[in-house]
Amino acid sequence: MRSKHLINIDDFVTDLCRFEKGLITRENVLDFCASVQITDSSLDPYVYFDEKFYTRNLIFRDDLFEVMTICWQPGQKTAVHTHNGQICWMIPQWGNLGVVDYKWLGCDHPENQNVVGLDCLAGSDHTQLEVVREIEACAGGPVLTADKLQTIHRLFNLSETRERAVSIHIYSRPIDSCVAFDMENNRCYRRQLGYFSKYGETVAQEEPVASASSFVQITR
Ligand SMILES: [Fe+2]
Repeated sequence: MRSKHLINIDDFVTDLCRFEKGLITRENVLDFCASVQITDSSLDPYVYFDEKFYTRNLIFRDDLFEVMTICWQPGQKTAVHTHNGQICWMIPQWGNLGVVDYKWLGCDHPENQNVVGLDCLAGSDHTQLEVVREIEACAGGPVLTADKLQTIHRLFNLSETRERAVSIHIYSRPIDSCVAFDMENNRCYRRQLGYFSKYGETVAQEEPVASASSFVQITR
């Protein structure tokens, strides 16, 4: 394995933004993310844990890129969701995450995909998804992606009882909402996405699921 270049998060963002002058592709950003190791200390302002839900913590955002940490208590997981037709790179920073990729087989409202600026209006209650693969994403291991060909997945902290995890997510373009799947009822719906903190400061919760009162900022 080639050695990684140690970099702080500010320099990472500066280097990432150089891609904005040319084409942003899954491959060129993946190569860059795989070539660096972001320092833990530079991420301290963006690491918050909540007892009830994983937290999304914005580090940088412009028209083309959104960069955040996601911080996971043991056992926390996302809904099965899409990426609104965008590309996502995930760097596992600490701990171990699991990823389950799904394939869309069909639904009773496929015409709802005929919308500009979103992947789908959602609103079906007969969605059919199939598990494609399950992957472990360990700190220091490969950078993972979601893209236009593989856009549906669920992420979770592999440790159910002990270890916290932190991952860094890069989206191009930024994603403000996505389709989420209620797997028990084969239903899909659009879900607004919010942040637990922005630029190092906690925010009044935009996500109804998270409560600002229960956050704990990590100290090392
Ligand atoms: Fe995702």
